Amino acid sequence: MPYSPAPARRSLLKLIAAGPAVSAVGGLAAAAPAHAVTVPAPAAPATTAAAAPGIVKALPAEYFTVRGTNAEARFDAFADTGLLTPAERFFVRNHTSTPVLDAADWRLTVWGDGLHGRSPVHFTYGQLRDLPSVTRTALIECAGNGRSLYTSQQGEPVTGTSWTLGAVGAARWRGVRLSDVLRRAGIAHDAVDVQPRGLDDPYVSGGVDYGRVRRPLPVAKALDDVILAYEMNGEPLPYDHGYPVRLVVPNWVGIASIKWLGDIEVSTRPLGSPWTTDWYRLFGAAHPAGGSAPISRQTLKSAYQLPFGATLESGRVHRLTGRAWSALAPVRTVEVSTDGGAHWRHARLLDTPRRGGWVRWTVPWRPHTTGPVTLLSRTTDTAGNTQPERAVHNTQGYLFNAVVRHPITVV
Ligand code: MTE
Repeated sequence: MPYSPAPARRSLLKLIAAGPAVSAVGGLAAAAPAHAVTVPAPAAPATTAAAAPGIVKALPAEYFTVRGTNAEARFDAFADTGLLTPAERFFVRNHTSTPVLDAADWRLTVWGDGLHGRSPVHFTYGQLRDLPSVTRTALIECAGNGRSLYTSQQGEPVTGTSWTLGAVGAARWRGVRLSDVLRRAGIAHDAVDVQPRGLDDPYVSGGVDYGRVRRPLPVAKALDDVILAYEMNGEPLPYDHGYPVRLVVPNWVGIASIKWLGDIEVSTRPLGSPWTTDWYRLFGAAHPAGGSAPISRQTLKSAYQLPFGATLESGRVHRLTGRAWSALAPVRTVEVSTDGGAHWRHARLLDTPRRGGWVRWTVPWRPHTTGPVTLLSRTTDTAGNTQPERAVHNTQGYLFNAVVRHPITVV
């Protein structure tokens, strides 16, 4: 019999919009029973109104572009951030809306025929916090990051949120190993898949109720480097990023990193969900009829921290900057072209490349003539993966990895 989660107490976003209730929300989450651990709650939003339906945090236009229920970070604005993306600048991808949960009555249920005892095992927030903690830096990047470039750059139609390049961010996550939780719950040797599920509202689209956001992970990945995170950059997770606990699945497409985790099914049979059957696989002429296998790893990208259509003055030296990242191996090089791809030279890497992180890069450039220019950047990782000139099209626009053609004007 499938387990059906009882949502933790939730305060509707309406309360937040109402102003004075904001502090009540923070107060609620902070008020732990006397015998429980102190439960840290995220800071209440600084402004009352979110510009995207269902997102709690403020979304100033200099940092975000709102796209439906989602907020894309402005990649050019990353220029003044370090290796970590501050939580208030991190993109938000919500299928529905952010639930404002209370850690004091939250619990995680691990259940399924892949557990020795076969009966559900529960963990309170305090019990999770008592387990050994791990801290790691990882990017979260939506599978559709760069999707709009299939159309703008390759002339190919795609469906889904029209992200440019800002559906990505890096944070330092602290939490517990999923493997520790699964072992304590009694995962059996013949378990093959685990399926984490969120506590946000069921996703309804085109009149179809797809249920709560969930996506299976093979046990090998689940026991490898996945964490149940309760902190982001040294603070409790913000509401929009999964408070009180989310999954962080390093190097995999962002959908794997389930927010507002409520339960995890452990199964001796392969599991599926609409997030592995209808979406997050590759459909189209270049892929098997019926679609590819569910996608897992992210790909590689590089980009300039400059608005599309920026104007730069001729005759003076500009310090162009950007970032490069690969989910497949550490970045090895970044090459740039300031003449539409005729000539290439190496950019200087400002950080030590690490697997699962990104590097900042810079290159000086003095333009001599005026007019439109296409800037290009191309990264290669230590496994030999290089950004191609064209990404292989798929109808839902996932895994864009091509060299980005960045238009600017020299005046
Ligand atoms: N988890 C739940 N419960 N609900 C969601 O809508 N969106 C997923 C994933 N986890 C989602 C979720 C997607 S598609 C992405 S890209 C990441 O969360 C985004 O994480 P962020 O909003 O913290 O940046």
